[in-house]
Amino acid sequence: MAIISSKQQAQEPVGQPKQRRELSGSRKSPKAPATEELLQPQPAQDEQGKQEESIRPRAFADYIGQKDLKDVLDIAIKAALARGETLDHLLLYGPPGLGKTTMALILASEMRVDCKITSAPALERPRDIVGLLVSLKPGDILFIDEIHRLSRMTEEILYPAMEDYRLDITIGKGSSAKTRSVPLPRFTLVGATTRMGALTSPLRDRFGLIQRLRFYEPDELSQIVLRTAQILQTPLTEDGALELARRARGTPRIANRLLKRVRDYAQVKAPETSITQEVAAQALELFQVDPCGLDWTDRRMLSVMIEQFNGGPVGLETMAASTGEDTQTIEEVYEPYLMQIGYLHRTPRGRIATPSAYKHLGFTLPNEQLSLLP
Ligand SMILES: Nc1ncnc2c1ncn2[C@@H]1O[C@H](COP(=O)(O)OP(=O)(O)O)[C@@H](O)[C@H]1O
Ligand SMILES: [Mg+2]
Repeated sequence: MAIISSKQQAQEPVGQPKQRRELSGSRKSPKAPATEELLQPQPAQDEQGKQEESIRPRAFADYIGQKDLKDVLDIAIKAALARGETLDHLLLYGPPGLGKTTMALILASEMRVDCKITSAPALERPRDIVGLLVSLKPGDILFIDEIHRLSRMTEEILYPAMEDYRLDITIGKGSSAKTRSVPLPRFTLVGATTRMGALTSPLRDRFGLIQRLRFYEPDELSQIVLRTAQILQTPLTEDGALELARRARGTPRIANRLLKRVRDYAQVKAPETSITQEVAAQALELFQVDPCGLDWTDRRMLSVMIEQFNGGPVGLETMAASTGEDTQTIEEVYEPYLMQIGYLHRTPRGRIATPSAYKHLGFTLPNEQLSLLP
């Protein structure tokens, strides 16, 4: 499988957490402690290497969870293979770390084609995308990460390429400019984004399949860490796996990271035994990973809502100011998980902290909210 411009891909995501930290600093709000990086859904600097690739599932059968997505793609793959056609262009969206890149690679291997990987920030100049498109072989998959960040020119080159497998190149400038059309082989574009709403509609409309990835349930995450533990040759019990799973924010990338940290801990503190629930819980307590996977920003958001606003509703801007995170990160990374575990509701008037959030953070419910409970 040819992976090109993987260098750019590897560089790109590591910039994100840094950028976020700078943002938090610039707003003069309290700083998140360093241990919180354990719970960041973006890949860390040391998570781009060989070991990371060794734990990435390679086949459909190893890709745990996301049943709806797998059902849809399974049919699409079988139909395309039976007809000898290429797959429809596919857009995958959802929070970071849920398996978008992994799915693109699996699709390529199931279709027995090559996958070229790039990300939108690496396609700034028109010639970047042109170079990639002309290098494609029939059936190849072109994976573009962070596809909502494409430049307008690059997007406009992609439209005819996606629709008619045609590259329109303009040669010369002004009145002497000529457009030449070059045919392209049939290929499949797989786009990934954490921000579905930021995609332009002409681009979105050119995808035949649009699929959302969901947060994983604890039992799915526990299967994922059991599989990873096997690859890393680390003994892990089922209840140990579940303890990791519960604290991993519904995100495989975080679950695998917690496993690696707990493995270090176990090697030093309990070298003779497997990673049991007890060992996992001790280690994660030491690393200050919350039993529900909440990090500093989640806790801060919820406690501001509860302490300063009586549980809400609170506007997004207020949450951003109180945590130093930008509104976009709050909407796309933090809130989806808090809503998933039932700690936060979005209403037209703002965000509301639920009774479970009060309980988890050790606050007593105000009377009027108590009276609403069954
Ligand atoms: N369904 C899954 N089953 C097993 N492991 C997974 C699954 N999805 C993701 N992972 C693991 O999580 C890591 C992050 O997934 P990735 O595809 O890079 O996420 P995204 O591209 O959505 O940010 C991968 O390296 C892989 O090991
Ligand atoms: Mg990715």
